[in-house]
Amino acid sequence: MSTPTVINGKEVFELLRDDLAAIEREFGRDTVSNVSAITDIGEYLREGGGKRIRPALLLLSSKLFNYRGRGAVRLGAVVEIIHTATLVHDDIIDEAQTRRGRPAANTQWGNSRCVLAGDWLYMQAFKIAVQERNFRVLDVLIELTQQMVEGELLQMEKLGRLISLDEYFDLIYRKTACLFSVCMRMGAILGGATPEQEENLGQYGRDLGMAFQIVDDVLDLTASESVLGKPVASDLREGKVTMAVIHALERCAAEEREQIETVLRDRAFNGVTHADVLGILSRYGALDAAHEKAAHYAESARKAVCTFPDSEFKRALLWAPEFVVAREK
Ligand code: IPE
Ligand code: IPE
Ligand code: MG
Ligand code: MG
Repeated sequence: MSTPTVINGKEVFELLRDDLAAIEREFGRDTVSNVSAITDIGEYLREGGGKRIRPALLLLSSKLFNYRGRGAVRLGAVVEIIHTATLVHDDIIDEAQTRRGRPAANTQWGNSRCVLAGDWLYMQAFKIAVQERNFRVLDVLIELTQQMVEGELLQMEKLGRLISLDEYFDLIYRKTACLFSVCMRMGAILGGATPEQEENLGQYGRDLGMAFQIVDDVLDLTASESVLGKPVASDLREGKVTMAVIHALERCAAEEREQIETVLRDRAFNGVTHADVLGILSRYGALDAAHEKAAHYAESARKAVCTFPDSEFKRALLWAPEFVVAREK
């Protein structure tokens, strides 16, 4: 019987269903503390759902090597907990009101408790990772956490400034693509990959993560809050210049540039509306350009796994870039 060459999202979910359920249980067990605020915040965040794309990538990467141990579930929980910790801190920094269609944790428990809960979650993630007794895993996770924190700090330094595309790509690598890359590499490490295989899978994760954040930044400009489950048009209000805006700024007229700069300076849509900015972006094909760049990264991710033998897991990895580029939330 010939194997089908394409796979859809439902089939990918089916493929990973048991492991993802095990990761949910692991996450639930891991975020319990004697201090109820931590358990409550951890539980609230886990219940909020989310796409679980990072643990899914780690599972797929390990399964390319027929890995069957418990480590993938543990490390899957680790990467989702790290992701959760960064979201808690990110929402405090961005003063976000909503996340995953619900009030953001900072609006319920306040900033101080949430900073500490985020710190606790980071440490808990490392505590679970230590169980692997694998220094490479710890090395990669520590480097990652520092990259992500540096990314948020660098972003803060650049707020309100017109940054270059290179600066933008460096930021989104640290903020997002680095974690995607680490998910793939950890699956590879568990599976006993060769250095070259690990490198290819890391490259896949990096390119997929770049596409993911470029799309996140486009959705911030174009989506509705009810679909996205988090604030929209918030990047400009926070003074963050993203790919589409950079593209337009490099091409637009002086008055248009002034309008965008006004929003960045005021940190609000006062005289200049969100629709005005969207008008400028579409006049210069800026949203399409960002989408094309994301599609380019997605294609590059697909190429990075082309040398692996055919399997349903490889097909799932070939599907993920399409999903990331086409997603609406
Ligand atoms: C949000 O990540 C943070 C970014 C890197 C853009 P996700 O879009 O994966 O968030 P959830 O986990 O699905 O809510
Ligand atoms: C995501 O950046 C960075 C993180 C690592 C949390 P954003 O600030 O764009 O994420 P969202 O849009 O709030 O999810
Ligand atoms: Mg944010
Ligand atoms: Mg965003």
